[in-house]
Amino acid sequence: MKSLSAVLALIPLVQAGLRFPCSTLTFQRLDPVVQPGSLPAAHVHHIVGGNAFNASMTGDVASRATCTTCQMAEDFSNYWTAVLYFKHPTNGSYHRVPVVPVQPLLGGSNGAQGGLTVYYTQNDLSKDNIKQQPIKSFQPGFRMTVGSPGATSRPQVGLRYQCLQGSNRGAEMPDFPTKPCTGGIFTTHHFPACWDGKNLDSPDHQSHMYNTIKSDGFTNAPACPSSHPVRMPQVTYETTWDTTKFNSMWPSGTPNPFVWSFEGTSGYGTHADYMFGWKGDALQRAMDKSECFYDGCGSITKQAMTTANQCTVKDMVGEETVGWLSVLPGMA
Ligand SMILES: *[C@@H]1O[C@H](CO)[C@@H](O)[C@H](O)[C@H]1NC(C)=O
Ligand SMILES: *[C@@H]1O[C@H](CO)[C@@H](O)[C@H](O)[C@H]1NC(C)=O
Repeated sequence: MKSLSAVLALIPLVQAGLRFPCSTLTFQRLDPVVQPGSLPAAHVHHIVGGNAFNASMTGDVASRATCTTCQMAEDFSNYWTAVLYFKHPTNGSYHRVPVVPVQPLLGGSNGAQGGLTVYYTQNDLSKDNIKQQPIKSFQPGFRMTVGSPGATSRPQVGLRYQCLQGSNRGAEMPDFPTKPCTGGIFTTHHFPACWDGKNLDSPDHQSHMYNTIKSDGFTNAPACPSSHPVRMPQVTYETTWDTTKFNSMWPSGTPNPFVWSFEGTSGYGTHADYMFGWKGDALQRAMDKSECFYDGCGSITKQAMTTANQCTVKDMVGEETVGWLSVLPGMA
């Protein structure tokens, strides 16, 4: 077995951008971006971040939130994705797949519970390039989505799956793994980084942003087009779905038994939502800081994850989402 230090030696040191854990805030059927006011929304989401999260969210989120599950204490944004379920191959019952903290490249999980890892990068993981390319923070009220539950073709670059085997993350793939993954399923959601400079949202929640990223990984996005000229932070989520207790119920040679919470049996429907909620100019300060180390960025206040873990929201829907369930919530 390869030692951890041998594995780390292969990974370039992260020197630019913000990277931090957020614990799970809640699993609920709510979606204030795509279905504002719907209580419940169409399918279950895994949500992290500030406690202003609600069925409907407008205006300055940071002015209403009083706590956050994220390590960055000034970040009251909300981050969410669909939820992975295991569909039992013979009896058809569903069970929610637990989330576990992403094993970071450095520094351990810092005591996060479940959750996901958030990145705001300026250029790529090894340099910030901010003299050539300044980054503008999102504004209060800003929101966006990436991917779509209805997608029937390969998702854009940046929406990916990896089959974890021990400390090996494996290749980035556009669809679910086709065999059991001993370390779980790792999902990545890279958002686009070019803004039209005017709209905090758009009818499809995507066309106010433009994706210029053409290759996998944390590569610098090419120049923004004139329609979307403003360079924003590149936001990325990483989630580890702990599929290990279901692997023995996946008979060898049979199709992938994992589905998204909207009954998405194809992995192409992977998607994620972002609701900006940083306090004041905290995100702008972080993005302006050259050589901003991945989890610090100088003046940005961090909190202990034991504090972050105490931040909660009410169960506003009041339904069982874990399992074993005969139908997925909202899919009856
Ligand atoms: C959520 O929205 C409802 C209805 O507008 C409101 O009564 C409630 O206070 C809100 N909760 C939070 C945490 O903002
Ligand atoms: C399906 O199988 C699981 C695992 O053995 C079990 O816990 C669950 O109750 C079963 N569901 C039904 C409807 O039999």
